[in-house]
Amino acid sequence: MTSVPHPAIEVRELSIAIRDEQGNERLMVSDISFRIAAGETLALVGESGCGKSLTAMSLLHLLPQPQVRLHSGEIILAGQAVHRLGKKQFRKLRSHRIGVIFQDPMTALNPVQPIGKQIDEVLRLHRPELARRARRDRCLELLKDVGLPAPEARLIAYPHQLSGGMRQRVMIAMA
Ligand SMILES: Nc1ncnc2c1ncn2[C@@H]1O[C@H](COP(=O)(O)OP(=O)(O)OP(=O)(O)O)[C@@H](O)[C@H]1O
Ligand SMILES: [Mg+2]
Repeated sequence: MTSVPHPAIEVRELSIAIRDEQGNERLMVSDISFRIAAGETLALVGESGCGKSLTAMSLLHLLPQPQVRLHSGEIILAGQAVHRLGKKQFRKLRSHRIGVIFQDPMTALNPVQPIGKQIDEVLRLHRPELARRARRDRCLELLKDVGLPAPEARLIAYPHQLSGGMRQRVMIAMA
């Protein structure tokens, strides 16, 4: 008998509520369900403001509380119910199993720090076993992987010195 593997991500009847200035709640995302297997890609398509980013943020515990909150539903990541995890437990999972490439890299990147330093910080946090030199090598490797032209020279570049597409690649490298 072959066992059916867990989907990498499963979302069951997810609803997300938004509170307006009067304090009234309404559902912005209502009852959506999907499964994504390892190696599969899922594209959420819809008009601007329909709730795609909120749906993605809910998977990462990144809903902008308290205006926006998970109303109901379940989010299962590699067999674990992430909506029931505490912040600390989830952070561990986030560094190893799930990452995010934000929609707007100009606000997600620190404008006053070279990109090499910003990637280095991620590595320092999530790959504590790497020494400084190894982190630099890894950083270059990541920038090459995402197709950033002339990565060596770009380590010391600030976000505003890159094109929009290059900034997005830096975000992908960090994720
Ligand atoms: N922090 C917030 N407070 C209140 N409302 C919010 C907040 N963030 C998003 N919204 C509202 O939730 C709705 C869904 O936003 P979301 O960012 O998920 O849209 P989207 O589908 O990703 O749109 P786009 O294609 O433009 O990126 C929008 O109507 C938006 O105004
Ligand atoms: Mg969006």
